[in-house]
Amino acid sequence: MMILGIESSCDDTSVALLDITDDHIEILAEKTASQIDVHKKYGGVVPEIAGRKHAEKIIPLVEYILEEVKVTKPDVIAVTSGPGLITGLVVGVETAKTLSYLWNVPIVSVNHIEGHIHSVLIGQQSTDYRLQTKQKMGSVVRSPLSVDFPTLSLIASGGHTELILSKEQGAYEKLGGTVDDAAGECFDKAAKLLGFDYPGGPKISQYAETGNPHAIEFPRPMINSKDFNFSFAGLKTSALYWLRDNKLSAMNVIPYKLPTGVYGQMQEPPTINDFCASFEQAIVDVLVTKTLTAVKKYKPKTVTLGGGVSANVKLRNTLVEAIKHHSPLCTFYFPLSTYCMDNAAMIAVAGYHRAKNKKFTPWDKLEADPNWKIYNPHPSSKL
Ligand code: KG4
Ligand code: ZN
Repeated sequence: MMILGIESSCDDTSVALLDITDDHIEILAEKTASQIDVHKKYGGVVPEIAGRKHAEKIIPLVEYILEEVKVTKPDVIAVTSGPGLITGLVVGVETAKTLSYLWNVPIVSVNHIEGHIHSVLIGQQSTDYRLQTKQKMGSVVRSPLSVDFPTLSLIASGGHTELILSKEQGAYEKLGGTVDDAAGECFDKAAKLLGFDYPGGPKISQYAETGNPHAIEFPRPMINSKDFNFSFAGLKTSALYWLRDNKLSAMNVIPYKLPTGVYGQMQEPPTINDFCASFEQAIVDVLVTKTLTAVKKYKPKTVTLGGGVSANVKLRNTLVEAIKHHSPLCTFYFPLSTYCMDNAAMIAVAGYHRAKNKKFTPWDKLEADPNWKIYNPHPSSKL
C-alpha cells in the first residue's frame, strides 16, 4: 500500500511516500522543511509564523515527493490531525482534505504521539540482534512491521513526556505524563539560560559529553512518586537559581569556567560542560527510573523510546542498560536518529494499520484537534 504521510504539528513540514505491507516498510521518498532557523531568533516556536511557513512549504513538498517517485497519487493519505499547534495542524489537515477530494484517495487521521511510537519501526534499532540485521539497504530503509505486545513507550519531546502502555496494536493506555514542562522543553529552557540557540537540547547533550554529571546536584522531581507522572519545571527553576546564585548570566557563562559550585566540595570550579552533564543526568535519571518502575509493574515484552529527546545518547544508553539488567527478555527499540524528530514517515507507518482496516475519515469530516489525546477514542470512531 502506497501511503503519503503529512506532518505539520510543530515546526517541521514533512511529507513522505512509503510502500508498506505487513512484511516491510519502504521509504520511497521523504523530505522535511525545518523552520528552526526562523524560530531560533525568538527562542522558541512562534505559532503564527509556523502556520505561515507550513503553508508556504507543504504543496511544493508534496509535488517534490510525487515527482521523485514518478507517481501521480498514493493509495492513502495519512495526516497528523493532533495534538500540536493548531496553526500547523490545520495546514496539514486542509492539504490532506484537498488532495483527498482531488485524487479521490481516502484519508487516515493519525495522532502525532502514535507516530512517534511507530518511529522505531523504521530501520529498526533494537537490543534484539536478529532485528539489527534488517538495517539500512542503500537509501531504502526496510523493516518488519511488528513488535511484541504489551509494549511500553516513553515519548519525550519538546511538547510531550508520556509513558504509554499498549496491549495490542492501536490500543493505548496512559500511565503518566508531565504535569508541567516536557523533558525537551526543560532542556530548551536551560539551554536558553546558557545562551544556546533553540532548540538547545542537542547543544546541552554535546557539552555534557565531556562534563562531570555529579558536579552539581540538581533535583530529580517526582522521581519517587508512586505514580508515573513527571515534573520538570522545578528542575529548570533550580538551574536558573544556580546560575543566578553564581552571578552568571547567559552571555558570560559560555566563554568562562563557572565559579566553584554552591556545594563547595569541588577542587576545580564546575565548567559549562559539568553544568550541562549534571543537568542532563537529572533528566535522564527521572525518565529512566520512571520507565523502569513501569517495566517492573507491567512487565512489557517491548519497550520503545520516541520523540526528539530520544536522540539523547545518554538517555538511550542508560535505558538500554537498565532494561537489560532488570528485564533481560524485554526488547528495547529506539528510532534511527533521523526519525527521532518530527517526520512524515512515522505518520505513514502509524496510519498503515488503520488504512489496512479501512478506518478512513471522510475528507469533509476530518478536523485538526490540537488537544487530541492518544488514549482517547479516535475522532473517526464518532463518525
Ligand atoms: O519530537 P520533536 O522533534 O518535536 C516535538 O514534538 O516537540 O522534539 C524536539 C525536542 C526539542 O526540545 C529538542 O531540544 C529535543 O527534542 N532534543 C534533545 C536532543 N535532540 C533533540 N534533547 C536532548 N538531547 C538531545 N540530543
Ligand atoms: Zn514530535
